[in-house]
Amino acid sequence: MTDLSTSPARTSRALDALAAVIAEFNAARPLETSISVALGALRQSLEAHECSLWLHTADGLVRTWAAGEAQAAEASVAAALASGDEMDGVRAVAVTGGDRHVGALVVRLGRAMQGEEAMLLTAVANLLAPELAHAERSRQLEVEVAARTAEIDRERRFTEKIIDSLPLGLYVIDREYRVQAWNRKRETGMQGVSRDEALGRVIFDILSRQPVEMLRREFDEVFATGRIQEYQMESSATGSARTYRITKIPMRLGDSAVTHVITIGEDVTEWREGQHRYAQAEKLAAIGTLAAGVMHEINNPLATIAACGDGLGYRLEDLQKKGADVNKDLFDYIEIIENEVVRCKQIVDQLLDFSRPKQLAKSRVDLNDVVEKTLFLMKHHGGFKKLTLVKELDPALPVVPLGNAEQLVQVLMALMINATDANDGQGTITVRTRTGPTPTDGAIVEVSDTGHGIARPELSKIFEPFYTTKAPGRGTGLGLAICYGIVQDHRGRIEVDSVVGKGSTFRVLLPTIEW
Ligand SMILES: Nc1ncnc2c1ncn2[C@@H]1O[C@H](COP(=O)(O)OP(=O)(O)OP(=O)(O)O)[C@@H](O)[C@H]1O
Ligand SMILES: [Mg+2]
Repeated sequence: MTDLSTSPARTSRALDALAAVIAEFNAARPLETSISVALGALRQSLEAHECSLWLHTADGLVRTWAAGEAQAAEASVAAALASGDEMDGVRAVAVTGGDRHVGALVVRLGRAMQGEEAMLLTAVANLLAPELAHAERSRQLEVEVAARTAEIDRERRFTEKIIDSLPLGLYVIDREYRVQAWNRKRETGMQGVSRDEALGRVIFDILSRQPVEMLRREFDEVFATGRIQEYQMESSATGSARTYRITKIPMRLGDSAVTHVITIGEDVTEWREGQHRYAQAEKLAAIGTLAAGVMHEINNPLATIAACGDGLGYRLEDLQKKGADVNKDLFDYIEIIENEVVRCKQIVDQLLDFSRPKQLAKSRVDLNDVVEKTLFLMKHHGGFKKLTLVKELDPALPVVPLGNAEQLVQVLMALMINATDANDGQGTITVRTRTGPTPTDGAIVEVSDTGHGIARPELSKIFEPFYTTKAPGRGTGLGLAICYGIVQDHRGRIEVDSVVGKGSTFRVLLPTIEW
């Protein structure tokens, strides 16, 4: 309700209030302060119960500032805005920024509003409008920037999570060789440098154990050629010798020059050992086939030599019986021929065992029994007397369901004889059984010695037939080759740990499940 009659006093007060509001906005104080001052001046001039500013937000009309009692309700404000007239004692004027409603300027008077007062209200609303519209735009921009920042942050964290989850060490350097990314595995890996410590630093200062020149050459090659480079590296930084495959990958931020190099380090020790084992098995199989063929050819002439030797012996005996003077040396020669033929036959038989391990009947075998039987047989071995024997048998050892006790005794015997030879008749030999970690490696028997050990390059050869470091006549180099064949036939494996000058451990791992 607007009272169109005028009162000079009120008109003058309204003009004063408008002047005060304009002066306030010209003072360019913070928007909040200006609004509070304007609302206060307006209320005073109108002698209103309440003078407030409402804004349109996602929740509807929300009162943001108020001078006075602040009792107007949202519904009354909305109704007054829609009707353009007074509702429930509330009068509202739209505050319009550009082409949309920003909010409303609301007054609660205890009386009818005069024409000048209504104009004053509209004037103040128009004064407020551009300020609020501008503030609103800034606020929207801020919200947008915050949302975009959060999104970028999320994307960054997602990418970080991916590179942190890789089971590989990964870092990225820029053209100045400064670290720009450093993943979790690099924090815990070989040299354990934290990300905070690494980021921004020159890589050569961090990887100080590697020769700077070599490292720089590797990076420069990728920068210059734009091609992926791969290297293998041995390192003992973690205590044991491990093999790493290092890959350097070019990265381009634009479309032309390489701007960064990504380096990935992967521990390939197990993979490489697997490759070696595979190559070894292939080689042994090939040797086995070859040996089987050769042996077939050798067996026949050996039989002929043996028969001729026998024949010669009989003839000599006949001649002797008939009174001829037969030189004793001739009998010695024949004995030598016979012995050597027997030795050759033994070697041939052993080789046959290796190349075609007999598929002997298999049944439940207790490895602890196998150890006891082997030790009983070993008692008669000469070199065994001065050695200290330690026996550690696991009473809870699971049985091997498909085994051949005789062949397993043969394996253990070969390992014990090798250990005795390595110990040179002194020191300690430990025979140990223990339960393995998985059913495929369920029962383990180990023979450890304190002997001379085996150098790394030799380790890959010891299972080859005829590889021996023993004096001629002392070893044929077939012991381990035969062990290998038998253990394979049991679906097990043999492992060796050896330190030169300290000793070796040969470990046979057998499955405790039926296969
Ligand atoms: N416990 C050990 N310590 C050090 N070296 C060993 C050990 N066991 C085996 N070797 C090395 O491996 C080689 C091959 O062993 P393998 O048992 O196959 O043949 P050998 O003992 O030389 O001869 P054979 O067993 O046929 O009489 C040995 O000559 C030796 O150099
Ligand atoms: Mg041997």
